[in-house]
Amino acid sequence: MDLLPDTAPPPTANAETAPTPPPVIRRADYRPPAWLVPEVALDFALGLDATTVRAELTVRRNPAIDRAPLRLAGDGIAARAVTVDGLPSNAWRMDGADLVIDLPGAEHRIGIETAINPAANSQLMGLYASGGMLCTQCEAEGFRRITFHPDRPDVLSVYRVRLSGDKARFPVLLANGNCIATGDHGDGTHWAEWHDPWPKPSYLFALVAGDLVATRDRFTTMSGRAVELAIWVRPGDEGRTAHAMRSLIQSMRWDEEAFGREYDLDLFNIVAVSDFNMGAMENKGLNVFNTRYVLADPETATDGDYDAVEGVIGHEYFHNWSGNRVTCRDWFQLSLKEGFTVLRDQLFSAAMGSEPVKRIEDVRVLRAAQFPEDSGPLAHPIRPDSYQEISNFYTATVYNKGAEVIRMMRTLAGPERFRAGCDLYFARHDGEAATCEDFIRAIEEGAGLDLTQFRLWYSQAGTPRVTARLDHAGDTATLHLAQQVPATPDQPSKQPMPIPLRIALLDRATGRHAGEHLVVLDTAEARFDFPGHAQPPVLSINRGFSAPVALDAGQSDADLVFLAAHDDDPFARYEALQRLIVGHLTGAIDGTLDAAGRQAGREAIGGALAAVLDDPALDDLMRGELLILPAESYLAEQVAAADPVSIRREREALKAWLADRLADRFLALHDRAILVPYSLDAAARGARKVKTQALVYLAAGRPEEAARRAAAQYDAADNMTDRQGAMMVLCGLDTPLRAQKLADFHARYAADALVIDKWFSLQAGSLHPAALDHVRALAGHPDMTLTNPNRVRSLYMAFAANAGAFHAADGSGYRIIADLILALDPLNAQTAARFVPPLGRWRRIDPGRAALMRAELERILAAPRLSRDTYEQVSRSLG
Ligand code: ARG
Ligand code: ZN
Repeated sequence: MDLLPDTAPPPTANAETAPTPPPVIRRADYRPPAWLVPEVALDFALGLDATTVRAELTVRRNPAIDRAPLRLAGDGIAARAVTVDGLPSNAWRMDGADLVIDLPGAEHRIGIETAINPAANSQLMGLYASGGMLCTQCEAEGFRRITFHPDRPDVLSVYRVRLSGDKARFPVLLANGNCIATGDHGDGTHWAEWHDPWPKPSYLFALVAGDLVATRDRFTTMSGRAVELAIWVRPGDEGRTAHAMRSLIQSMRWDEEAFGREYDLDLFNIVAVSDFNMGAMENKGLNVFNTRYVLADPETATDGDYDAVEGVIGHEYFHNWSGNRVTCRDWFQLSLKEGFTVLRDQLFSAAMGSEPVKRIEDVRVLRAAQFPEDSGPLAHPIRPDSYQEISNFYTATVYNKGAEVIRMMRTLAGPERFRAGCDLYFARHDGEAATCEDFIRAIEEGAGLDLTQFRLWYSQAGTPRVTARLDHAGDTATLHLAQQVPATPDQPSKQPMPIPLRIALLDRATGRHAGEHLVVLDTAEARFDFPGHAQPPVLSINRGFSAPVALDAGQSDADLVFLAAHDDDPFARYEALQRLIVGHLTGAIDGTLDAAGRQAGREAIGGALAAVLDDPALDDLMRGELLILPAESYLAEQVAAADPVSIRREREALKAWLADRLADRFLALHDRAILVPYSLDAAARGARKVKTQALVYLAAGRPEEAARRAAAQYDAADNMTDRQGAMMVLCGLDTPLRAQKLADFHARYAADALVIDKWFSLQAGSLHPAALDHVRALAGHPDMTLTNPNRVRSLYMAFAANAGAFHAADGSGYRIIADLILALDPLNAQTAARFVPPLGRWRRIDPGRAALMRAELERILAAPRLSRDTYEQVSRSLG
């Protein structure tokens, strides 16, 4: 590649005031940095509403690039003073938001002083205040809101950080790396100095200052290094950190065993923060977390919350290698660290719990969140080609499909050879800012694979559709496969991709098979012969969800019932049941099912679920998984111009029919499950899962019985899983118990923000016919605030995902979300933009509603001073 200086004009707008339209950043325009910054020294004089930052950057000209001035990015900050090599300088100018300095030599020391107001930082990017403490979020481009810096991930520096501030307000002062000195100024202020020996990009910088208490433990690494672990929370929350600490220690051990990765500092700090845009952040040695992924105890956290804490603690810890030791060259490579790290956290969680249940959950998330993205106006490849605002690309595609793509490499290579490829990747790129291409090449060489055609998975968007048909003649079964990758924005035509499909051919008489095959479909069409089958076998395909595709296997209900009962691959068993139900419901929704077909379908599903309820060989965690009906969002993907109300109606009607048909079994299941005492072991968790599943069905078919049982379950609950499950069921029912228990719930947990979030979500996401009115009332509740992202999401995300309410025929649901976006955008653009995708699905919705959704998008786009974040999402959604 020829090396050009990075003098292309960068975006000049800050998050609050973007011009229209914001500039487009392209992957093809990448240029290496003209200046490197080997060292950064930062001195913070901390105050909640006035913090002074003195930065000293050692800058070194990139020898490959000549004569370019030093260009430092800023966002909403001003330089109060600039020095060059220790002397005051006037040789600098502002170019938009960038600070530009002409420098004569090859290496200089640049001093810059900036002043910021953390308390006024409602964007929660850069340095901000949360509940009286100070903390940072710098990924992706938050560092430039603290000081001027190249602020691009391929510029790596060793950081020295000095923090000073009021002792009473900020008794704890934390930054990356190791604490090397502390001291007292004797005037009520104190200071700490931190040094991180590992060169890192600016997005991994972090500081925290506040009144915090630590839960401490120790970990000894595989080479015998002792690591001090600390989880910092607000005083009063220290009783809820045990699960996070256990998860951290398990993560550290697992990464050594599964990937040979060892921790590399003497200290590992985690801080829980209440106001946070995302889940958590992997800052080197100082992970900052949304409280919801740290705090857990039985009284306030559900089993699902426990799993989420374990998964996110693992995710951020694993970033220490996949993200920090090897980082990204530019933000188009985001999936290099995020896709890989999601795969790593998925494998970790699978190893800690039930592997098949974890796999089913991962696929459920992919289908509910990523498939709709991939079929909509915001579809993008896992390695995007352009963006206006990078925060918009922290998506299910980059994260979850990214993980699926790397999982396919692992399937193609086998786990041992995949591990060899990963070892090569880490060894070769340690200390570097790498690309997806670097990763692919390391896997190719280390695992001995040819991934030439496989690279299409990085560049083509859209969920491939695979059709499969099994023929039988003589003693040979023949599998006919075809693939088609749908057109997506900017990508009208696609090439066939290699699609690895694990398959088995089951003997109809015994339910057994003679071994699994891995077939790779890498052309538009292909056939595969399997001799040795005197009778036509039953096809089990995409076992373990070996490829992230939409599959049409054209199987009869009888075959699906057979697979649901006999398949030895737990995912395939789940999938057969799902396909049986999806086939039935899509027929019911699009009106192609006649009365006889409807009855036959229901009987088939009822029989299969009865078998699930009766099967003594199933554990309850798996049973609970098999009982979950396909999500409305996934069903909406299966039908053209979906009417969300008929999806809701048909899904609920099936549930009611099943509840009626299987009432005795559901009642018996509930009776059995409520006897199991609380513990975190798999059997007890399974019992809690089926307990609420039973109520969910009964609520549809036997609402009075369900209300009575839910209220009793609520009253008897000694844990949040049971209490929330019961509350969820009551929220969907028209019963006086609903208001009664909601009031109790609120009073009981009034002081606990994370539980009050649940209280909002349960009502906003409920099946109650008046859910939209409830949301409107809750928007004015004294506990509602736009300044806390968890609270905003708890009400409005739950609502936007509640098809029955959000898609009200008069468009009032769309108006609620559009009004929210407009109100939130000036305060927190990143979070506001996250609410655009629900409105962007208009193309897949019936024409009447689609027009109303479009009108709301147009209204948002017409607003003055829209952020870059929201502008990009809305304009693409209208596209
Ligand atoms: N890297 C973080 C993670 O673990 C996410 C940070 C996202 N930040 C943002 N501003 N979009 O996934
Ligand atoms: Zn991540």
